[in-house]
Amino acid sequence: MNAEGLWWGSVVAMAGGVCLALTTGSAAAEPVPTNYDEALVRSYTLPDLLAGPNQTPATTPQQWRAEVRPHQLRLLEQFVYGRRPAAVPVVAEMVERESAFDGRATRVQARLRLGNRPDAHATEVLLYIPTSPAIPTSPATASAPKKFPVFLHLNFAGNHAESADADIRLPLHISAPQATPEAVTAAEAARGTKAVGWPIQKILERGYATATATSADFYPDNKDGQAQSVLPGLGYADTVAQRAADEPGSLGAWAWGLSRILDWLVTLPEIDASRVIVVGHSRLGKAALWAGAGDERFAMVVSNNSGCGGAALERRNFGETVAKITTRFPHWFCPTLATYGDREVDLPVDQHTLLAMVAPRPLYVASAVEDRWADPRGEFLGAVAAEPAWKLFGLEGLGTTQWPPVDTPIGRQIGYHLRSGKHDLLEYDWLRFADFADRLLPGN
Ligand code: GCU
Repeated sequence: MNAEGLWWGSVVAMAGGVCLALTTGSAAAEPVPTNYDEALVRSYTLPDLLAGPNQTPATTPQQWRAEVRPHQLRLLEQFVYGRRPAAVPVVAEMVERESAFDGRATRVQARLRLGNRPDAHATEVLLYIPTSPAIPTSPATASAPKKFPVFLHLNFAGNHAESADADIRLPLHISAPQATPEAVTAAEAARGTKAVGWPIQKILERGYATATATSADFYPDNKDGQAQSVLPGLGYADTVAQRAADEPGSLGAWAWGLSRILDWLVTLPEIDASRVIVVGHSRLGKAALWAGAGDERFAMVVSNNSGCGGAALERRNFGETVAKITTRFPHWFCPTLATYGDREVDLPVDQHTLLAMVAPRPLYVASAVEDRWADPRGEFLGAVAAEPAWKLFGLEGLGTTQWPPVDTPIGRQIGYHLRSGKHDLLEYDWLRFADFADRLLPGN
């Protein structure tokens, strides 16, 4: 789900490093050059992510926590993602538990009601938990149920697309009474089609639980999705066009949704509340970063191929740009961001600011070498530029400014790899996330 061609059929010509693409959504449909040439990257100075409200840089973790982090988070809200909606009470209305994978795991499907309003939205979570080892490792832990760390991610196409298991429920909007028989047939045809992106058994074998829910439960991913999203019920506009300059869009709604699922996960006896990892791919990688930035209960944050509006530095002008992303996806960010198209240098933040919000927790940024639209080098440089936030805590971030060769994971408290191949979330990526979590999750 990346290259321009797939979504918009817009790549029309390649000349040297510059690809001409037609931008949809503008009346004139002017060709806008997409830069793929490192030699044509802008020279830029990044905003100081350690600067507080009066521009004085933090020199201690205390200053960072008290003044700088809240200030930088507010800038990200104001200029990029919009205000963060307030939490609501989360109530599990339905919880089904079944044995899975020949007894090696428990499969949980739960419907969570989000808030008390009569018209409150719901989401359905699909969770797999490893079965506790039959032979306890020490008598002291014999009676205590084991608590597992968990990887949480939102999915694009429904929980049922993430696994071929016929008992996985169809998305709420498909199982709703008003859904057409055609929609149900199409959903059934999608069953298991995304399973390659979520190697459940491999994750379980590594000792992690793993959970997912459909992003559409929080915001259906289209320009008119706002009305069906959680946002109007949380006090925001009914349509994208009616939003105030700093109102959130789908990224804000998806990040909020991740936090609401977390609210429930931490209540489960088998889940270790201090070891919940948020993961996201592509647009949902942008959402995972924003969720991890805003909600410090996430113990580790993973961005996979999140690109523009995710881990990649905007100022570089390589691959997707602010102008392109806000034209094509006006519902993702707050309206203010669109006013910075082609003048990213005027933004008071860049994406290293977002990455820095994760400090001092572990952060993993994953790129793919053929994913040029997402600017893999810009993702790496975002992680490099975020490092001062970890340094404040006496921690090393990546520990290098050298872009590593393909398939060579690196890093200290910030992990990074450049996978060979395309824009995708693959088993290789998940196993590297698990390696990193093994090393850095609290308690390990
Ligand atoms: C498009 C979009 C990217 C996004 C990607 C995806 O390519 O331009 O910003 O990351 O879709 O979500 O797959």
